[in-house]
Amino acid sequence: MGQLDGKTIIVTGAAQGIGAAYARGLAEEGANVVVNDVGDTSALVEEITKKGGVAIGIIADVTDKGQIAEMVSQTVDKYGRIDGVINNAALFGKLLRQRFEDIDINEFDNVMRINVRGVWQVSRAVVKVMRGQGYGKIINIASGTVFKGTPMQLHYVTSKGAIIALSRAMAREVGEDNICINVIAPGLTESEAVINEGQFSKKHFDANIAGRCIKRAEQPEDLVGTAIFLLSQDSDFITGQVLCVDGGSVTH
Ligand SMILES: NC(=O)c1ccc[n+]([C@@H]2O[C@H](COP(=O)([O-])OP(=O)(O)OC[C@H]3O[C@@H](n4cnc5c(N)ncnc54)[C@H](O)[C@@H]3O)[C@@H](O)[C@H]2O)c1
Repeated sequence: MGQLDGKTIIVTGAAQGIGAAYARGLAEEGANVVVNDVGDTSALVEEITKKGGVAIGIIADVTDKGQIAEMVSQTVDKYGRIDGVINNAALFGKLLRQRFEDIDINEFDNVMRINVRGVWQVSRAVVKVMRGQGYGKIINIASGTVFKGTPMQLHYVTSKGAIIALSRAMAREVGEDNICINVIAPGLTESEAVINEGQFSKKHFDANIAGRCIKRAEQPEDLVGTAIFLLSQDSDFITGQVLCVDGGSVTH
């Protein structure tokens, strides 16, 4: 028996990287997984279903009100409810590491739009369904960079700080409805985006590993167990919290 048997969970930005690892892990625990992304989700959906898991792919932009509404209604039509959401979609891997005075204003706005407004937009759409059920779990993805004050990606770090503030305030508004909202703050993780986009040097990786209690590189799979816990009934009395999953890089 899986920890998420029969639960329906949307993972945004799940076509690749850490989002894909969440989707695989949730399916293995018995969830009906909605794999969302702006990019093609078919390969992952096929992989999950071939292994006996339950998944559908829905292409939708997390900042487009109409596309979100369509994703929510397709999910409810197909599975009857929405038990959980992981707001994982973000602009990250492709962002240049540069001084804050050099960041393009449009790029700053884009990061805020997708990383912050997108989380609010998806949350406000699913919370209506969750309120009707009297139950739901939302996980928002921040970053250890907030606690480190990591330089050279000011828009990104700022957006992830906002995720913590937003999640705490949202959690206060939905507790009465049995809806839990928590945050996972990953450390630097070897997702495809991080490896392929080449924004981080070996020196940067080595320094990150050296600063951890557990001295090895973080993999997308390292984050999955915490997500399953926060989506399962085992965490029904935990809300408004931030869990740093980074091998003890920051303590919070
Ligand atoms: N990899 C790391 O080191 C690390 C560390 C801390 C936090 N995180 C966070 O974890 C999450 C996943 O990171 P990743 O490394 O797998 O990056 P990634 O770039 O591979 O994943 C982001 C996904 O979001 C999708 N996406 C972007 N804009 C979207 C939109 N408007 N609507 C829907 N989908 C959209 C992308 O297509 C992509 O598949 C992000 O929130 C990231 O900020 C990553």
